[in-house]
Amino acid sequence: MTRLQKPPYVVGMPTETVYGLAARIDNEQGLKAIFEIKQRPFFDPLIVHVDSLEQAKSVVHSWPNVAEILAERFWPGPFTMVLKKADHVNPLITSGLDTVAVRMPRHSLALQLIREEGVPLAAPSANRFGRTSPTLAKHVTDEFGDQFQVIDGGPCQVGVESTVLAIRESANGRVQLTILRLGEVNSTEISEALRERGLHDFKWSEAGVKPVAGPGQLKHHYMPEVPLVFVKLSDRSNDEILQDLKKRRHEIPEKSDGVQMRQIPETVKNLQELLLSSDAHLAARQLYNSLRLAAASHPDVLIFREQAYHRFQSWEAIMDRLTKAASIVI
Ligand code: TXA
Ligand code: MG
Repeated sequence: MTRLQKPPYVVGMPTETVYGLAARIDNEQGLKAIFEIKQRPFFDPLIVHVDSLEQAKSVVHSWPNVAEILAERFWPGPFTMVLKKADHVNPLITSGLDTVAVRMPRHSLALQLIREEGVPLAAPSANRFGRTSPTLAKHVTDEFGDQFQVIDGGPCQVGVESTVLAIRESANGRVQLTILRLGEVNSTEISEALRERGLHDFKWSEAGVKPVAGPGQLKHHYMPEVPLVFVKLSDRSNDEILQDLKKRRHEIPEKSDGVQMRQIPETVKNLQELLLSSDAHLAARQLYNSLRLAAASHPDVLIFREQAYHRFQSWEAIMDRLTKAASIVI
């Protein structure tokens, strides 16, 4: 028997993006344990992790040329493709949808685990539903204690979750692409990879290349233990920000999509600023750990101030996470 065929059927798996909570796709007890441990609603589908193209092809209904080109360009790596699912894929994984999300992670210990199990592994990020994703093994054990083992693969090198791309082929062979979640791989790189290989007959969905909310994409997510305030580009002083907050703190709902929102206290005595590297790659790598560390000193409010350079494409995934982690954007 392999390690994931025995209780508790799940393990903390390091990947280059964030730590996952992994179970075999053919073990229903493991799949159920994922939802139970994370307190995750069943409408939020899981990503299937593979160690080879053969495995990827085994979970999809068909493997279009686009998928072949993008897999060659971005796998192993922080890139997930949503394709029509094969019949045998458990609907728990796909939330009953007719599509499945597949990715090949770029971490030797993740690939080794998949190889040892001999089947693909379903794995969401190893955090409670709606909360900050883990980028260190310690983040996982801090949150879940000894409910399951965590394979320590060091700090995650990318630091934000994979880009999720939906691929649809119409009857006339035209390919429609939709970004469901932003990650390190962006739409410009995807278009370039396809054109380089002579594929020009694709179209980005009407919304353009901005992400379209897919299943499980919540308005609020990744939230730290204290309220985060995203301060849009401005030259307001901290005092002015606090005044604005006082006026607008009532706009924060108690819950959003089932996720408990962090509230801003009536009077804010201590405020802390979340500072990130000015290099987008480093900032992504440090993001979730910085959020946890900043929250650990329990300020009344944590603020993040947007800078002009944060509007560049390389910052998109990070700004997406920060606005979703924020209780309010002012
Ligand atoms: O980087 C990552 O992708 C990490 C590591 C562990 O691989 N995993 C991850 O999983 O972020 P999770 O469960 O936190 O996010 C998976 C998201 C779902 O919330 C959903 O938005 C999207 O992927 N997804 C999965 N299957 C889908 C499907 N069939 N259709 C549309 N979206 C899907
Ligand atoms: Mg997650």
